[in-house]
Amino acid sequence: METNKILNIGLIGLGGMSNYYRNLISTIETIRIAAICDVNRELVDKLGEEIAIGQERRFTQIEDIIASPDIDAILAVVPNNVHAKIVELCILNQKPVMSEKPFTMNMDEADHLKKLYEESPIPFAIGFIHRYTPSFQYAKQLIDESAIGRIRYFDVKYQQSFGAPFYETPYLWRYDQKISGTGALGDLGAHMIDIARFFVGEFETVSAALMKTFIEKRIDSTSGEEREVDVDDFASFQAELGNHVVGNFVTTRNAVGSANQLEVTIYGDAGTLNMNIERPDEIRLCIKNSDEDPVWKTVEVPESHRNKSVLRDFASLIIDGENSNVPTFSDGYINQTVIESVIQSAAKGQSVKLNREEGK
Ligand SMILES: NC(=O)c1ccc[n+]([C@@H]2O[C@H](COP(=O)([O-])OP(=O)(O)OC[C@H]3O[C@@H](n4cnc5c(N)ncnc54)[C@H](O)[C@@H]3O)[C@@H](O)[C@H]2O)c1
Repeated sequence: METNKILNIGLIGLGGMSNYYRNLISTIETIRIAAICDVNRELVDKLGEEIAIGQERRFTQIEDIIASPDIDAILAVVPNNVHAKIVELCILNQKPVMSEKPFTMNMDEADHLKKLYEESPIPFAIGFIHRYTPSFQYAKQLIDESAIGRIRYFDVKYQQSFGAPFYETPYLWRYDQKISGTGALGDLGAHMIDIARFFVGEFETVSAALMKTFIEKRIDSTSGEEREVDVDDFASFQAELGNHVVGNFVTTRNAVGSANQLEVTIYGDAGTLNMNIERPDEIRLCIKNSDEDPVWKTVEVPESHRNKSVLRDFASLIIDGENSNVPTFSDGYINQTVIESVIQSAAKGQSVKLNREEGK
């Protein structure tokens, strides 16, 4: 293990989500942004000036930043159609990478990456940031300690509001299947799937899936013309997970009043846990106290479960050579197989069995 090592990160993609990571990196002593890349030269130069990145470390081509020998690892925060290309180049250059969700656009890309990765693995993480929410981390401990007994039913809803007509959101890459793969399903549903696997275990079957587009045309703000939306605004499905746990999953980006609401309720034989990322530092817990009937109480998350993040674990994976918490390549791949099962279930109106050997 190397002590006092600082990870020189090459940040690819300087849009909305990169701001979240830049804020996070400023709180992590083991990481610094050493190079930046975006196809938008203006964005590269603006950020380069702001955070003092020299001209020689400003890139517009992913090939160049990934091949750069003094960059220890890549953080990729680009639209979904670029995920697979970046991960492939990182594998070929043996460069550690943290890539955003969804893992890929589709199973063809996922299978291609799996083959390359199995031949030459690299330190890898995927941006399943919500499992690091303090309340989720604490809930995981409570579940492991059997606070709610055997889990029977997992209920999750991930809703955002930006797509509702009220906001007049223009046509974005998120509404174009060629760039996004799917709509709310891959965008928010990928997190729901990850959280279910984090708390409960593997998916066995997916059933009763429903995918709907509510707003079929949006205005392209560059051309002023109407463009066809070909991805889902809403997705829901049911699932059976390991140990006969049943799950109910709902997501949409068209829910007025839900800015960024990921709410999870886990029902066990001895009690129930409820968490919402809008209140990250508290858990609602309903368990039996002495002889009384179970009652709801709000519990504050202990300090020890805060300040964790996928990026911190990714840095530790590279610097220390191991980190058992990091969401892995396999987590990404399996997540994509569940997304694919939802698509299949919605298209065929049937249950879809998951192949448990996939991703292993
Ligand atoms: N983990 C999370 O909770 C979370 C939240 C939001 C977004 N995301 C993911 O982050 C990714 C980016 O989302 P965003 O909201 O920041 O998008 P965005 O459109 O705001 O930004 C994307 C940036 O990538 C750049 N880009 C596009 N193609 C590129 C290429 N080939 N090479 C280099 N740069 C390129 C664009 O110019 C843009 O600046 C998506 O995959 C999204 O799913 C994850």
